[in-house]
This record gives sequence, C-alpha cells and structure tokens, in this order.
Amino acid sequence: MAENAPSDTPSLAVDLAGIALANPMMTASGTCGYADEYADFTDLSRFGAFVTKSITREVRPGNAAYRIVETRAGMLNAIGLANVGLDAFLEEKIPKLEKLGPPIIANVAGHSIDDYVHTAAKIAEQPVIRAIELNVSCPNVADGLTFGTDPKLLETLVGEVRSAMDERVKLIVKLSPNATDVVATADAAVRGGAQGLSLINTFTAMAIDVYKRKPRLANGTGGLSGPAIRPIAVYLTRMVYCHVAKPAGIPLIGMGGIQTWTDAAEFLLAGASGLAVGTALFINPNLPLTIGDGLRDWLNKLGCRSVTEVIGTLDWQPNGSPLPNQ
Ligand SMILES: Cc1cc2nc3c(=O)[nH]c(=O)nc-3n(C[C@H](O)[C@H](O)[C@H](O)COP(=O)(O)O)c2cc1C
Repeated sequence: MAENAPSDTPSLAVDLAGIALANPMMTASGTCGYADEYADFTDLSRFGAFVTKSITREVRPGNAAYRIVETRAGMLNAIGLANVGLDAFLEEKIPKLEKLGPPIIANVAGHSIDDYVHTAAKIAEQPVIRAIELNVSCPNVADGLTFGTDPKLLETLVGEVRSAMDERVKLIVKLSPNATDVVATADAAVRGGAQGLSLINTFTAMAIDVYKRKPRLANGTGGLSGPAIRPIAVYLTRMVYCHVAKPAGIPLIGMGGIQTWTDAAEFLLAGASGLAVGTALFINPNLPLTIGDGLRDWLNKLGCRSVTEVIGTLDWQPNGSPLPNQ
C-alpha cells in the first residue's frame, strides 16, 4: 500500500511546486479521461495526483478511426484531443473531481494564445484545481506543436497564461520531444513563468499497412508512447534537470514508458519529482500503486528515509551548457 505504509518505511511524499503529493505517482494526461471513467479499474484516490485529459475551449470530436495502433514496445495514438470541451468540463467533470481526493492537475490545449488563456483562466477559478498543465506538445492535431517547438512563441504563451491565471494555481508546461532542442523550449517555458515542467509527450511516428500501402492510423501519423521511448525520455529529463530545472529550482514530472519501479527510479535519479504513467495503464491500471511499493523497497535498500533523498542524484552530468550565457 504505497501511501498508507507504517511510519518506519521510507516516505514517498514529494513537493511539486508547493503542492504536497502523498507519493510521486500520477496519471499521464489523456490516458485516464477525467477520472470517473476509471472508477471501476483502480483506486485513483491513492495516486499522488490526477492529471486530466487535455481540455480545449470547444468540444472536439477528435480524429477518425483508427486512432490507436499497437507497435512493438509501444503504442501509436492519434486521438486528436477528443474532449468534452471547457463548459462540460466545468459543469460535469469538476463536481466528480472534487470528490476524488488527490491534487488535481488540469491539462489544457488550444489553437491560439487566446484559447489557452481563456481555458486555463476559467479552469483555474475552480478551487479543486491545483495546477494547470499546458499541452503545447500534441503531435496529433494540425497545430498541436506550434507553441512547443518555438521557444520565443512558447515564452510569450506561457507569460500570457501565467498572468491571466489565479496565482494560487501553479502552471506546468508539458514539453515536446519533437522540438529541435528540448532544453531551449524548457528554458523558454521557465522564462515565461512556468513553475514546473513535464516531459515528455509522444514522438511523431507512423505505422504502415503493407498490403493496403496506407498508414495504419486514419490520421496518417500519430504519437509514439510506451517502453520504446523511455530511454530517450530519461535522457531528456536529465538534460532538462541539469540545464534548466535545477538552476531554476522548479520540479519536473517525468514520463515516457514507465512500466516498473526500476523505470520510475530511473526518472527520479534523472531529476523528476513527479512520475506519470500513461500507456502502461492500458495493461494494468493499478500499476502506479505497485510501482509505489517497489520504490519503497528500493529506498529501504539504499537506506533512504524519503524519496526526496534520491531525486536528481544520478552520478552523471551533461558536459557544458547548451544554453547561451550560462
Ligand atoms: C491514448 C493517449 C492519449 C493521450 N492524450 C494526451 C492528451 O490529451 N494530452 C497530453 O498532454 N498528452 C496526451 N498523451 C501523452 C501522455 O500523457 C504521455 O505524455 C505519453 O504517452 C508518454 O507517457 P507513456 O509512455 O507512459 O504513455 C496521450 C497518450 C496516449 C497514449
């Protein structure tokens, strides 16, 4: 039982930009809906935090089927940000989220700065919302990567959203691995006012039906997630931790292929304070709870009393600095 362990076992409690989490385990946006859909499959009240599916100003039906394809060691999705839209989220989903228990992080997407500002500010008015996670990294809609791959634009977007939102609510920016330089986009997000960063979203990728000679996804391309991307996600977490998050004193939420406690431990050592699980939930929705137990055993073996003792402690630093003037 990850969060109800006796007091002599190591603590999994972490601080995420001032939000106290009972443990680092959370849902990755888009893989658990708005929580009520998962009520029969696992006890989300025992997770460290719950992250919603991306919410947009308007209702979005998403892309045509097929929207999901299994690949070796991963999964390709092109859901296309299908979601209930801001109004239904506020009316129907917020009352259910209020009963869940763990801190709620609402993931927000949009077509324009105005869209992001409007949606984030409205959602941040809800007392149950502790943080907004800006999705600037969706590879499955036409304009999903506009902000996440352009540092200047990203800094402007983050600055506008931050100043429009209630100060009580933290702003987390979700980074794309499809950017030329993830450290540069991380830096831009922090300069804009991000109080936390999550990484990574999915990689643009494709699977082909060799008889039809067509892409297997109706959208043509999709986002690759799951174990196949984990070593890249761990590497990018380390780079962003050393070059941006540690110097700025802000937390990271690491994700990308976490399936076991050792996977989770790698992200902790690389510098992540929060750990999100997405694709693996499709196999076992209870996985984050099992991973929590594994992390406690590991910390015990290391002689640590708290998970915070290991965050970022990997014995490897990248050489030099990829950022100018640092
Ligand atoms: C089916 C599916 C839907 C997703 N939808 C969203 C989304 O709406 N917003 C978002 O920011 N990320 C979305 N993601 C990306 C995940 O949150 C996560 O960043 C990525 O899948 C890597 O983690 P994983 O390998 O544990 O799945 C989605 C991923 C999957 C597999």
